[in-house]
Amino acid sequence: MSQAQQLLSLSRAARLVGVSRSTLQKNIRVGALETFEGKIAITDLLRVYPNTSMEDETMLEKVTEIKAKARPKRGQHDATTLPSPEVLASRLTLLNQDLINISSWLNRYTCLIDKVKQKLQALQISDNELLNKEIPALYDWLESELQAQPTQVDKKAQLFAKSTFLRLMAANIKVLPSGREFFVEGTASILEAALHAGLNLSYGCASGNCGACKARIISGEVHKIREHDYIISDREKNLGYMLMCSNTAITDLVLEAAEAKCSEDILSRKIVGKVKKLERLTEDMVLLQVQTPRTKTLRFISGQSVTLTLAEDISGDYAIASCPCDGQHLQFHICKQPNNVFVEYVFNQLQPLQTLLIEGPKGNFLLQKESTNPAIFLAYEEGFAPIKSLIEHATALESAETLHLNWFAASTGRHYLNNLCRAWGDALDEFSYNKYIASEAELSTEISAMLQKQANLAQSEIYVAGKKIFVDACTANLAGLKIPETQIHTIIMDS
Ligand code: FES
Repeated sequence: MSQAQQLLSLSRAARLVGVSRSTLQKNIRVGALETFEGKIAITDLLRVYPNTSMEDETMLEKVTEIKAKARPKRGQHDATTLPSPEVLASRLTLLNQDLINISSWLNRYTCLIDKVKQKLQALQISDNELLNKEIPALYDWLESELQAQPTQVDKKAQLFAKSTFLRLMAANIKVLPSGREFFVEGTASILEAALHAGLNLSYGCASGNCGACKARIISGEVHKIREHDYIISDREKNLGYMLMCSNTAITDLVLEAAEAKCSEDILSRKIVGKVKKLERLTEDMVLLQVQTPRTKTLRFISGQSVTLTLAEDISGDYAIASCPCDGQHLQFHICKQPNNVFVEYVFNQLQPLQTLLIEGPKGNFLLQKESTNPAIFLAYEEGFAPIKSLIEHATALESAETLHLNWFAASTGRHYLNNLCRAWGDALDEFSYNKYIASEAELSTEISAMLQKQANLAQSEIYVAGKKIFVDACTANLAGLKIPETQIHTIIMDS
């Protein structure tokens, strides 16, 4: 088999050795791993990860667990769901072709070896003295090498077999021009899988009516999983266009599709949703879970906000506290405040199943998705809401090298999702969490002491969310440390 057939995409290589994509990217950046047209050779991968266990998928499982927790339950499409019989049959047909190719190569090499042996035997009867001495030795060596049983398992072959199995279970998709990659697993559509992976691809109805998810196939094969009302012209079909919400991937794909990069790329819309759950996290904090209709999900970038309207003249702007990888299930953190009719309504009257109007998204406090720098998050009390969305999105994208959360509050008990943050710390190798108690008077000093301890501060993207006094104290300290303003992203969340 040729070397070219043993090149792996970054996502597939990360999955095979059980590390995150950002870990591999770091290895590429420091020159430990080489890439060929963006791909990694199995041989090179084994050189850097020689102890890869074929069963060890610890890191992958950890990331999958975090991603699963970031998304409330719904029709699950994950690594445990088998692709449909049609997709499996198509993938098996393609793998069968691969098997034929590999078998052909093996047969060719076997014939070549036989011919070499015949030539060596012919040389033995020549009258050249030197040849008559060396050739039998070479012939014997070749014979013994061919007959020797491998003493160790061939790791390269093992990794190749594992990669082949993964190809059967999941297709790897690369989106151009961003170069972002994700897997389509189980019976998921390409759009569902892309959203799960945290990509902000263009879409509207998610059910084949609007055409907003149209994308062009550069290479690979897709399989239609639902009929759609939106008509793709013959000309567009010939150019390779298809609807991502109505197709799944049979093979690895390269697609051309637009992704939202800034807030202007996503239009604000009004959606009537319903209250799914109200959970008292503490005496003065409610976790409000809202569900949109399946065909009208909210498209947003992590860190953005919406206006929630519960009844006439009862509305409020709130940061979305959940991952954009699930635009149907949204979370909000509602803190008790005196003389706020919206908050009083939530705490005293709002009931599950009640409808409400969601308008948005809005705001420019956004995850810097293109950056692979370490990310440092500084939150003050309910400033944790947009920060939670950023962390879940960054985890889904596996974009940042490391994530460090520093959560400040005025008193104990105000870190209302402390257990969740600790669970992230336990589950993710690249995540760290620290909580701080500081009065307003102590804030600047505490922030200064915390920043002194942050490694790689000058190379990090720094996200700050909370009340004005906190944001001002953070930006003043960061300015004092000469951190470029372009690396500081802030949102003031005063009541
Ligand atoms: S999102 Fe509307 S057709 Fe796919």
